[in-house]
Amino acid sequence: MTDDVNVGFSETARHEGTTDQPMEFELLDLRWELLPNVFAPFHSPSTASYSRWLPYPRGGSLLEIGCGAGVTAVHAALNGCAAVTATDISQAAVDNAARNAARHGVADRVRAVRSDMFAALDPEDRFDVIFWNSPAIEAPEDFSYTRDIEWSILDRGYVSHRSFLHDGPRHLTENGRLFLGFNSRGNDELIADLAEEEGLRIEKLASTSHDFDDRTVEFRLLEFIRKN
Ligand SMILES: C[S@@+](CC[C@H](N)C(=O)[O-])C[C@H]1O[C@@H](n2cnc3c(N)ncnc32)[C@H](O)[C@@H]1O
Repeated sequence: MTDDVNVGFSETARHEGTTDQPMEFELLDLRWELLPNVFAPFHSPSTASYSRWLPYPRGGSLLEIGCGAGVTAVHAALNGCAAVTATDISQAAVDNAARNAARHGVADRVRAVRSDMFAALDPEDRFDVIFWNSPAIEAPEDFSYTRDIEWSILDRGYVSHRSFLHDGPRHLTENGRLFLGFNSRGNDELIADLAEEEGLRIEKLASTSHDFDDRTVEFRLLEFIRKN
């Protein structure tokens, strides 16, 4: 485990402080709605950077795991993706993504679905790009989630990261690509081990750093590529 789980609790508190009422914010030159208990995309450069960096498949399909307010999913639809599936474990996030898709006129090509990772998808569903801006802090295996927002910051036992690397490749089209937005609060060694177990190599496509009060955090867009 890298970063202390207490950092996760203070991050959670920071997000909660700004998400107890519906509000609006601006990102990527657009105005967005944010519902209570949904990850606030303006505390760090993560959401905006990943949304800018991702290679959207023009006319193709994209699956965003953990869509939160739906910024990346909607941005993908506005930038050439023909079919976007936006999933989240939190119903508030799913509702939020659907509302932002309607607000920006792309409800016809953004499908918002509640799902624990890939569980609610059809096993036959395939996507040209799969992406997740993940909750990088590793929580202990006996951690209990008590609030939705904790899912945005903490991954208990890295169970969801394991699923992303195991199940993600099985939902890709033949030339599909798997991306993770992963910050330096996460467990780099464990991610490297899990990728190795799945026969994947990691390439860092882009990164940016942000100074928080307590530390500098690097936000990186990683691609997982089948070896052979
Ligand atoms: C760091 S937030 C990113 C939110 C949004 N994509 C953004 O960039 O603004 C991580 C998201 O992953 C979701 N999440 C965490 N664990 C999940 C799981 N097991 N299945 C689906 N979504 C999950 C959280 O609810 C949260 O919305």
